[in-house]
Amino acid sequence: MSAKLNRIFSRLRIAANLAFNAKPETLAEASRLLKMESIPTFRERHDALFDYLSAKANRSGFELYNKNLMWQDEPDFWEIWKDSPYFQRQRPDRKFVLWSMACNTRNIPGDTAECGVLDGASSYLICSARDGAGPSEHHVFDSFEGLSPPQSEDQPSSDLAFHWAAGDLSVPLEETMGKLSRFDNIRYYKGWIPNRFPEVAERSFAFVHVDVDLYQPTKDALAFFYPRLVPGGILLCDDYGYHTCPGARRAFDEFAATTPERQVVHLPTGQGFITKRAGNAAQG
Ligand SMILES: C[S@@+](CC[C@H](N)C(=O)[O-])C[C@H]1O[C@@H](n2cnc3c(N)ncnc32)[C@H](O)[C@@H]1O
Repeated sequence: MSAKLNRIFSRLRIAANLAFNAKPETLAEASRLLKMESIPTFRERHDALFDYLSAKANRSGFELYNKNLMWQDEPDFWEIWKDSPYFQRQRPDRKFVLWSMACNTRNIPGDTAECGVLDGASSYLICSARDGAGPSEHHVFDSFEGLSPPQSEDQPSSDLAFHWAAGDLSVPLEETMGKLSRFDNIRYYKGWIPNRFPEVAERSFAFVHVDVDLYQPTKDALAFFYPRLVPGGILLCDDYGYHTCPGARRAFDEFAATTPERQVVHLPTGQGFITKRAGNAAQG
């Protein structure tokens, strides 16, 4: 009975809105909504709602994600992500790409590393993806005092774009360690990049995530880690395709041009990566 009353009230609400705001597009939206209420199955309602919201978003120049993409239901990822302290605090699409790439390196011997860790969301996924893949260490480098001072390369071309400042994105080391405490193979290197890189100079790496938003530390990280990447290993930069991080893109493009791979793979999530080719052996 109460469901029926709810439906009646909902229709009355839409009708009242129409009376006050009877633009043609509102009429069309209202008729779609009214139709939706008579749709019996969840799946059909879900699809109808998607079509409705999609049309609404398109009118304002936005686009909704395709609802038929399998990653949105990938159980292995969602079990980890939902169980993490970061669930619903960050967009999952980039995190899924990162996780999937880290999984791709499970059979490749070598350590993993992250430059720019914040409170550890990406390191959480890297360690989860490679859990049980054999003995390896995960090395994390961060000032834990936020960004270093941005340089001219980091200035977005538009004044409207967000501009970084020194000290942005600062999270205390203890907070990150707390959130990553379930992993016992993480080594922490607090300090300004590249000062502590020499401590891992003898290691080789299967997967490296660079996420420092700025030109100089991105450049330093690539120069250090690429020679230590094993063949088949992946170097992923989180900030590559962001208008807010022009320095990161410049650093990666400049560096990639000096490697046999030459070109960065640019993803619609804003990430960019290169996979080191076989035969292009790691140098110490
Ligand atoms: C965007 S956040 C990293 C986000 C993290 N990868 C994640 O997935 O949640 C950028 C991080 O880079 C660090 N950072 C920026 N410039 C740095 C530098 N020159 N040396 C060390 N750390 C730096 C900041 O402290 C911050 O934690």
